[in-house]
Amino acid sequence: MLMHELKVSNCKLILSESHHNATGQLFVFENLKTIPFEIKRVYSIRKVLRNVTRGKHAHGILRQVIICLSGSCKFLLDDGKNKEIVELNNPELGLYIGTYVWREMFDFSEDCILMVLASEFYDANEYIRDYEDFLKITKK
Ligand code: TYD
Repeated sequence: MLMHELKVSNCKLILSESHHNATGQLFVFENLKTIPFEIKRVYSIRKVLRNVTRGKHAHGILRQVIICLSGSCKFLLDDGKNKEIVELNNPELGLYIGTYVWREMFDFSEDCILMVLASEFYDANEYIRDYEDFLKITKK
């Protein structure tokens, strides 16, 4: 599996298998192969206004791979020690975000569509939504 490690712990960029020809472009991610977990949930995000910041949370269990199918947006990633901004603008790449990573998404283009592959079913109680709590947990 081709990937690019990021400065922030538990984060990496995963390269899809791509098939380009005269008829168009096709990108493949596979369960437990390029996607390093069993996919239990898929959701998508679109029509986010330019000045909006989403996310602002971390997870203790959930892992995700985010693929930007159209347009672009930026991710601020933060492991409590290192921060990094990653721009997603290419469906060939998946941004893997593991546990204990604070993320904020911003600078969405009008045509941005994010597809999120998640390792767990939705559980509102599993979110770490307070940044000070997040820092306390990651400093342990
Ligand atoms: P939220 O996690 O706040 O989105 P973001 O991280 O992009 O800012 O989710 C927005 C709303 O959607 C919130 O009311 C919870 C709900 N939601 C679900 O019901 N199921 C899901 O799988 C997700 C991701 C969100």
